[in-house]
Amino acid sequence: MNPEGYAGPSFDAVDIIRTKRDKGTLSPEQIAWTIDAYTRGTIADEQMAALNMAILLNGMNRAEISQWTAAMINSGERMDFSALRSPSGAPMRTTDKHSTGGVGDKITLPLAPLVAVFGAAVPQLSGRGLGHTGGTLDKLEAIPGWRANLSNEQMMRQLSEVGAVICAAGAGLAPADKKLYALRDVTGTVEAIPLIASSIMSKKIAEGTQALVLDVKVGSGAFMKNVDMARELAQTMVALGLDAGVNTVALLTDMSTPLGLTAGNAIEVQESVEVLAGGGPEDVVELTVRLAEEMLEAAGIHDADPAAALRDGRAMDVWRRMIAAQGGDPEARLPVARESEVVYAPADGVLVGLDAMAVGVAAWRLGAGRARKEDIVQAGAGVRMHAKPGALVRAGEPLMTLLTDTPEKFDRAKEALEGAVTIAPEGSRPANKLIIERIS
Ligand code: URA
Repeated sequence: MNPEGYAGPSFDAVDIIRTKRDKGTLSPEQIAWTIDAYTRGTIADEQMAALNMAILLNGMNRAEISQWTAAMINSGERMDFSALRSPSGAPMRTTDKHSTGGVGDKITLPLAPLVAVFGAAVPQLSGRGLGHTGGTLDKLEAIPGWRANLSNEQMMRQLSEVGAVICAAGAGLAPADKKLYALRDVTGTVEAIPLIASSIMSKKIAEGTQALVLDVKVGSGAFMKNVDMARELAQTMVALGLDAGVNTVALLTDMSTPLGLTAGNAIEVQESVEVLAGGGPEDVVELTVRLAEEMLEAAGIHDADPAAALRDGRAMDVWRRMIAAQGGDPEARLPVARESEVVYAPADGVLVGLDAMAVGVAAWRLGAGRARKEDIVQAGAGVRMHAKPGALVRAGEPLMTLLTDTPEKFDRAKEALEGAVTIAPEGSRPANKLIIERIS
């Protein structure tokens, strides 16, 4: 925690809760005191839970969100990459991507090494998954030997020598958010736009990146179920980033259906390696390339051709070095689930819907995710899909393979998938496009 802490006037937590309950506006001092007092344990969890719920129901204005974000940043350390140099001594620009979370979202894995090909430094401080969306660190931990925890010095060295690092965010970065997020998770207050925006942007601003691309997911598998809410979240985050001097843009992208053909840990790593080898599912390639272009533009690196770097193996080279630098063996065989069960297409026609939330919950129930922070994930568990929306399918054809080490989990996973598949007569087309809107 910031040792200096908040030095202004003190307030009464109940007055602050009442102000928000009655749709009032909190002052900058009230906000700074609240975050500091909660981080230090002076405000009780039940009081913060009540305040979070009042914020979820009544919202916050832009100034309040900006002050709330600043207070969260001030609760911890700030990283600084301004001294970062390549081995030849040239200054390196840092550029980062953050996704608000979705099912099968493995994009960070091919994206970080791809962007590093062009001389940018990509410091991806990532998290573990909780609930139906997977965590990037859980996926990478499926690679034998790979470790998520690096010191700041190790991270700087890897950024300079390899250009990309994906690792766990240290405990010193926005500690207020860690405590607040855990509380929101168990009090039904995750889905408040001011709280999501400040949570994400406090960590990204404290991380010290110079450029940032936000991938704001929309649809059943995302926090934001419709485009209007996603747009509001994206605009709020872009404004917070720009105000803090971070060159920030956002894409709204579809999460009504999973990304790619895998949702799990080892199987998502395998799919990412296919993309780095110049293959892989079209949607994963399209989003990886587009986000790479945006990240490079935001960092002031023009005329790069990320699609070519996927095809010609340059991104794969950086991937191998990035994994090896963190103790992983990029050539090692990935863990495979001990048991599998196939789900078949119920009818002939065009697959027009494969619900992201249902597939995410199924993968989670199979053991790919965790219900509590201390749970251990199964590296091989998950859902492998054999068709994407738009594909023509025949009744009785395999649609998905469920994977787990613990076969007693199959029934609950299949329950999650009830109603997840929509098949329409031949000639029908799925409604959603992948990249919906750009906000800058
Ligand atoms: N991701 C975060 O880091 N914070 C949120 O509040 C939601 C998603």
